[in-house]
Amino acid sequence: MIEWFFIPLAYVVGSVSSAIIICRLMGLPDPREQGSGNPGATNVMRIGGKKAAGITLLGDLLKGLMPVYAANVFGVSAEALALTGLAAFLGHLYPVFFSFKGGKGVATSIGVLLGFSWWLGAAFIATWLLVYKLRKISSLSALCASVLSPVYAWFIIGNIYLVGASLIMMLFLLYRHKSNIQRLLAGQEH
Ligand code: G3P
Repeated sequence: MIEWFFIPLAYVVGSVSSAIIICRLMGLPDPREQGSGNPGATNVMRIGGKKAAGITLLGDLLKGLMPVYAANVFGVSAEALALTGLAAFLGHLYPVFFSFKGGKGVATSIGVLLGFSWWLGAAFIATWLLVYKLRKISSLSALCASVLSPVYAWFIIGNIYLVGASLIMMLFLLYRHKSNIQRLLAGQEH
C-alpha cells in the first residue's frame, strides 16, 4: 500500500514553485507579474538572467524527478508510478501553495519523464535542443518535444500506463501553452 503514498507526496512537492521562490530569494520581481507572467524558467530568464533561470529549471526538473525516482526505488507498480509523475506535474500546474496558479509544466515534465526512463527524458531534451537550435523559440521547442513524448514513451518504455501519463502531460502542456500557440501561429512569439 506504500505505493499510493507517493501520489499525494508528489503533488505537494510539485506545488513548490521554484520560479517564485528563486525570484523572491534573489530580490527579483514576481515572475507572475513580469514578462509573460509565467512562473517558469523561460520567464525567469527574461527577468533575472541565466543564473536565476538555470536554478529555476533545475528546481522544477528535480521536483518532477525526485518523487518518481523515489517511487521507483520502492518498486511501485507502473500504475502508481504513472500517477506519481502526473501528481508532481499537476502540482506544478495547480500548486496548493500558490492559489492553484502555477506554470506551464515543461521542466517538471522533463523530470517526470527522466524518472520514467533516462532515455525518455533524454529524447525530450534532445528534441527541445534540436528545435531550439533551428528556431530559437523556447515555447516551440517545448511543444515539439512534448507532442513527441508519448511516441517516444511508446517505443522506449512501451508500458501503457506510462505512455498514458506522457500523453496526459502533453495535453495539459498544450492547453497551458494556448497563448504561446496563438502567438506562434501569428508569427509573434519570441
Ligand atoms: O517553459 C514555458 C515556455 O515554454 C514558455 O514560457 O514564458 O515564454 O510563456 P513563456
